[in-house]
Amino acid sequence: MSGTNEERLSKTRAFGKLILFGEHFVVYKVPALVGAIAGYTDCDCEFTGSTGLEVIDNRPAVPGYKDEKKEEADHAIDLVLKHLNLNPAERGIKLTFGGDLCAASGIGASAAQVVALARAINIADNRGLTDDEVNAAGYEGEKGYHGTPSGIDNTAATFGGVLRFQRTAGDPIFHKKVLQNPIRIVYASTGITVSTTEVVGDVRAKKEADPAWFDDLLSKYLDVVARGEAAIDAGDLNALGACLDENHALCQQLTVSCKELDDLVLAARAAGAIGAKMSGTGRGGLMLALTPTAEIQDAVAKALENLAPNVWKTSFA
Ligand code: MEV
Repeated sequence: MSGTNEERLSKTRAFGKLILFGEHFVVYKVPALVGAIAGYTDCDCEFTGSTGLEVIDNRPAVPGYKDEKKEEADHAIDLVLKHLNLNPAERGIKLTFGGDLCAASGIGASAAQVVALARAINIADNRGLTDDEVNAAGYEGEKGYHGTPSGIDNTAATFGGVLRFQRTAGDPIFHKKVLQNPIRIVYASTGITVSTTEVVGDVRAKKEADPAWFDDLLSKYLDVVARGEAAIDAGDLNALGACLDENHALCQQLTVSCKELDDLVLAARAAGAIGAKMSGTGRGGLMLALTPTAEIQDAVAKALENLAPNVWKTSFA
């Protein structure tokens, strides 16, 4: 191993994400748009020379998140180790997770954790893994957090940028979007930690109980995401904002929004956001707002701070 500890750690960084279009729909192999944020998780992996697994989780998090997700996180770590053929009963491993990404439902904290882990093993064990292989290991880990992940979160965590992502029967198809101008975002947590497995499972049950209802929402979503992507390509922020609003309405109809998210969305729009929606699993978790200028971004953040326990500003460039 070469380089300082800090240099090694910086190479394990994996980003958080915000879904702009397509949470839940993306599970059913339709295109979605996601933006990686600058906040990252990193991981130090040490082979201890004895046996057993020690995990130290120093990630910042919203209250309750790490406790509620502990079992899923342990399972996710186990899946990544298995995928990369490591058995702590034979070769002891100490993992230390850190970084500046505040773990909260909706921000892709689970994906950032498992991708950082794959990167850390890659470095500590000199594997020479490509980013695609790191992403594949992250995908396996994500199954520990939610049974049937679409792969959008781990792909954003691995590659960064704003991505168009589509799950397929085989490898996912994705590419980075070129932005005409920065997309300024405010995002806020409801403080409610949610189980993605449960919410994705509930949507699946509703889809199976009423396929016509789901197909109608899916076809409306396909229209919205196509217009949303065209707006990004054209750098038309007003059109993008209108499409985000439409996507939020579809999430409401899909029953994955909730009062806390709807209240934040309304407050963001009232404070000057040109579009706002829930983002991620929903029924808690996060919402995001599109703010065209730095001044409006500040004003929206201030308004949301009165209502939400955690508010952040970011920018996709
Ligand atoms: C979670 O960030 C996004 C969901 O669409 C689940 C997934 O894509 O795996 C709800």
